[in-house]
Amino acid sequence: MNTSATDLNSKVILVSGAAAGIGLGIARQCCAGGARVILADINKNARERAVELGDSALYIPVDVSSVDDITRLFAEVSERYGRLDGLVNNAGITIEGDFLGFAPETLDRLWQVNQRSVFLMSQQAAIIMRDQGGGSIVNIASNHAGASVPGYEMYAGTKAGIVAMSRAMAWSLGEFGIRVNSVSPGLTHTEAVAEVLEEKPELLESFNAMHADGRYSTVEEIGNLVAFLLSDLATAMTGANLLADHGQSANLVPRDQLV
Ligand code: NAI
Repeated sequence: MNTSATDLNSKVILVSGAAAGIGLGIARQCCAGGARVILADINKNARERAVELGDSALYIPVDVSSVDDITRLFAEVSERYGRLDGLVNNAGITIEGDFLGFAPETLDRLWQVNQRSVFLMSQQAAIIMRDQGGGSIVNIASNHAGASVPGYEMYAGTKAGIVAMSRAMAWSLGEFGIRVNSVSPGLTHTEAVAEVLEEKPELLESFNAMHADGRYSTVEEIGNLVAFLLSDLATAMTGANLLADHGQSANLVPRDQLV
């Protein structure tokens, strides 16, 4: 594929959950576009990933479910950079389980990590962005926000919540020059998905068949969309949700069941 990186022109961009998966893909594409990137993650492996990305990347530890951690993170960002042009709320967990047996503690965990964190992180980022005259926030939701499967009720709820909050935040923050959008990926080839395929290679065919173009996303593809929303090419966009699932949610009847 012949693509060049979106110009991010030395912008300071914080990506949560950047030690692995989609977050690392986003961090990579942002660095490729010339941004200074903060990899914020609970996993200390993010330090090595930041070193691999070069001088423009920095690791700051954070547990996005902790209010204290978030406060500390943004204080450090202000101190080190004095500004923040982009925030990508990507950190998230997937916990599925039988609806009738789902434990309340698991509901709380999913809500705190996936959804409450987006509110709290955006609140802190918006204070810095308001004071400097603008910025861009991109929240990673999921195609589960629109259509889901049994066992993913709460996960889907947090993701639909992220899309809804992003729309409302676009209006709360528009007057300060801050744009807020969400991206809803479908199945994406992260390390975890690669591990599943290593154990069960036969799944690849069905993974591909779920998508209109016969394949699913790479982390770089999602990273490119996020970089676009962070960039000055996307100044017309706020309050939008970009669905990036290779047509999976657009399907009414699976190909092999068409009559
Ligand atoms: P992943 O599990 O590969 O990576 C998630 C990263 O977030 C890890 O580095 C992890 O350490 C970090 N993290 C987890 N809990 C954290 C916490 N409390 N504080 C700080 N960092 C934390 O996940 P993946 O698959 O890359 O997902 C990233 C985002 O994309 C999530 O929000 C997920 O819901 C969403 N998504 C993923 C899809 C996929 O197929 N992989 C599809 C649709 C959405």
